[in-house]
Amino acid sequence: MFPSTSLASVFLVLFLCLNGVSSSSTPTKIGKGYRLISIEETPDGGFLGHLQVKQKNNIYGPDIPLLQLFVKHETQDRLRVHIMMQRRRVKRKSNGQILFNSSSDESDPFGEMVFKDQYLEISTKLPEYASLYGLGENTQPHGIKLYPGDPYTLYTTDISAINLNADLYGSHPVGTSLTYKIIGGVFDFYFFAGPSPLAVVDQYTTLIGRPAPMPYWALGFHQCRWGYHNLSVVEDVVENYKKAQIPLDVIWNDDDHMDGHKDFTLNPINYPRPKLLAFLEKIHSIGMKYIVIIDPGIGVNSTYGVYQRAIANDVFIKYHGKPFLAQVWPGAVNFPDFLNPKTVQWWGDEIRRFHELVPVDGLWIDMNEASNFCSGLCTIPEGRICPNGTGPGWVCCLDCKNITKTRWDDPPYKINASGIQAPIGYKTIATSAVHYNGVLEYDAHSLYGFSQAIATHKALQELEGKRPFILTRSTYVGSGKYAAHWTGDNQGTWENLRYSISTMLNFGIFGVPMVGADICGFYPQPTEELCNRWIEVGAFYPFSRDHANYYSPRQELYQWESVAESARNALGMRYKLLPYLYTLNYEAHMSGAPIARPLFFSFPSYTECYGLSTQFLLGSGLMVSPVLEQGKSQVKALFPPGSWYSVFDMTQTITSKDGQYVTLDAPLHVVNVHLYQNSILPMQQGGLISKQARMTPFSLVVTFPAGASYAAANGSLYLDNDELPEMKLGNGYSTYVHLYATTNQGTVKVWSKVEEGKFALQKGWIIEKVTVLGLDGSGQPSALEVNGNPVVGASKVGLSSMEQKYHEDVQVGDIKKSVAVEVSGLDIPVGKDFSMSWK
Ligand code: NOJ
Repeated sequence: MFPSTSLASVFLVLFLCLNGVSSSSTPTKIGKGYRLISIEETPDGGFLGHLQVKQKNNIYGPDIPLLQLFVKHETQDRLRVHIMMQRRRVKRKSNGQILFNSSSDESDPFGEMVFKDQYLEISTKLPEYASLYGLGENTQPHGIKLYPGDPYTLYTTDISAINLNADLYGSHPVGTSLTYKIIGGVFDFYFFAGPSPLAVVDQYTTLIGRPAPMPYWALGFHQCRWGYHNLSVVEDVVENYKKAQIPLDVIWNDDDHMDGHKDFTLNPINYPRPKLLAFLEKIHSIGMKYIVIIDPGIGVNSTYGVYQRAIANDVFIKYHGKPFLAQVWPGAVNFPDFLNPKTVQWWGDEIRRFHELVPVDGLWIDMNEASNFCSGLCTIPEGRICPNGTGPGWVCCLDCKNITKTRWDDPPYKINASGIQAPIGYKTIATSAVHYNGVLEYDAHSLYGFSQAIATHKALQELEGKRPFILTRSTYVGSGKYAAHWTGDNQGTWENLRYSISTMLNFGIFGVPMVGADICGFYPQPTEELCNRWIEVGAFYPFSRDHANYYSPRQELYQWESVAESARNALGMRYKLLPYLYTLNYEAHMSGAPIARPLFFSFPSYTECYGLSTQFLLGSGLMVSPVLEQGKSQVKALFPPGSWYSVFDMTQTITSKDGQYVTLDAPLHVVNVHLYQNSILPMQQGGLISKQARMTPFSLVVTFPAGASYAAANGSLYLDNDELPEMKLGNGYSTYVHLYATTNQGTVKVWSKVEEGKFALQKGWIIEKVTVLGLDGSGQPSALEVNGNPVVGASKVGLSSMEQKYHEDVQVGDIKKSVAVEVSGLDIPVGKDFSMSWK
């Protein structure tokens, strides 16, 4: 994706390939390219062409002599270019008419194309002004803008997120290609014309699937850790959050609740079922939720029901006709093949059985790249004995045996696997293993986590018909339709705090807007100061969860009094903003619009913000400018042109005429969050659990350009029954409110237009306060009218002057004094159109 400086337009290329991909700016001279030898229109309005290799060679295998090219404008904004091997059954109509010959055309972007069985390469030129975004998952040290010249490897891999610029858990070949080098498959490019960044994501998610709707509670705060050794510890954590008055919606278990690390089981000693059920009843009664982990590796154990039923249904990936034997937490495991419909059914049945055992509210699918502790086959070397105490029927795995290398295990072109040029089967399933219908792992590798998310989503939805919540580690193009994502095993360091912003913003572009990093870091132990700053960023991640490694000391937010204070402040604001975040989730579901966005999404012609990775927007105009460095109590933040209002301290205004860096105060417990002019932000009063927060009265914050005599603002609010699987209007359980405001030479109007108000009216929601910021202060407000009726005495109309804050060293444009008017004590039903005005 690249916004251009001159055109403010955006263009994005999705390149679909399941095999390993690497991308760099330097095309290698592997082949001489192809020439177009024929082209014809197809009945469906596309074009079918044929390409012939110009000069063959055998580097990385023989060239495919003839290729078929299919080009179609699938929609007004989407162009598909599909290049594959010439299939025998497609007859080339030899009319002798050569319409195009690339040999004499130097500007042909596909001029250097290479197409072999296990090596494909294609290059494209880029305009000089291009800024590149996309391609992942990848921890990018330089921020959100891709660095031309850097290689990016896309191959789902379980290596810690601390590895910079290496292949990580997800594979998202979306971006603008310089040179793609692929180890199999075909070329299948989609070009999305934009022109705006939001239009690109809209066009992209139209094709790959819209982001999943989230239940309301999923936007609350989540606490997790690996190493909650028993249920009492979990109960304690919930209690301590309450005592510390820090919001908490969801408590999680890593694999500690399991019996011998086996999926869908409970440890009878540490997590006795009756006690767990009593705990769940208690937290469910106040609206809190419970989520547990499941890994794809199924423990090989003849006494384990899940395994027995898996064998009976023949659901595992095969190697030489037998289930591929790998090693993960339970010891020896087999991996379910989610491309097999029978596996999907078996998986659904296991989830149903487990849900009867433990009524969990969502599932966390981990290690699904798939991660294998063994590179090769798990084995017990002769003469060695498995340890005792693992129970009858258990198969242990003490070593890894190399597999016989086929051309799939050792392809001619080596991708930079795991960032260390590891063999392609390093710590994963052997690429010569076989899926359903004979599909090779080589061709399906990066689909593993995606296929598991689809199967898990289906299972959860079929359980009780409720909107599912799934968190997945490994993702692929389209995963956002089924699951949320966290950025994996990060470190508790300042660098990792910074990287979390770029990765989060990238996932918005990938169509996975519900994303966040482990707050305070997965390992090692964060410092107290870092954890303070991390919750100030993490409180504004779309997915906000504190999680830590087994070996890390405890890092719940109440563990340090200073962190607790920052958490109360930042999460306190998040809980007030929940109606806004939920509306953004609706927008994401309807149009793909990311919840957290880079600044260039709202300011595409303001080039200064193109690479900005230290600040981000929630929606179009709420900007978070956190402290990301140790020992700092100020932050230098970029303010695109216009007026910005602090949502913590509404008397703080920054008016930045042409765009400006401004140094803001940010002592330890302060995070700067500003609302852009021309916005209407729906807020509620907050609370400790989203269920309670959701029922409090609404307030609207309206912003105008500071001191403007004429201006307009707008916003929106989406509400629904969040248990319904669908998130849409028209089912009788949702309401959408369009919000508008104008100021015109001293006359202020605020009004709404409601779609399907019934749901909101039934819930009894009211608007209690309207605050308008940025007025020119041309007179005392009077003549307040609500719904056409004068409010006599308007007892609660208050006035306050706006103090303008700016750094003395920077010119922040035309500073005009502006005032705020706050009207409180209102009782306006959310589900009915309203209007209010004053002079
Ligand atoms: C790896 C995951 O990334 C991490 O979050 C989890 O705690 C461990 N697996 C243990 O389940």
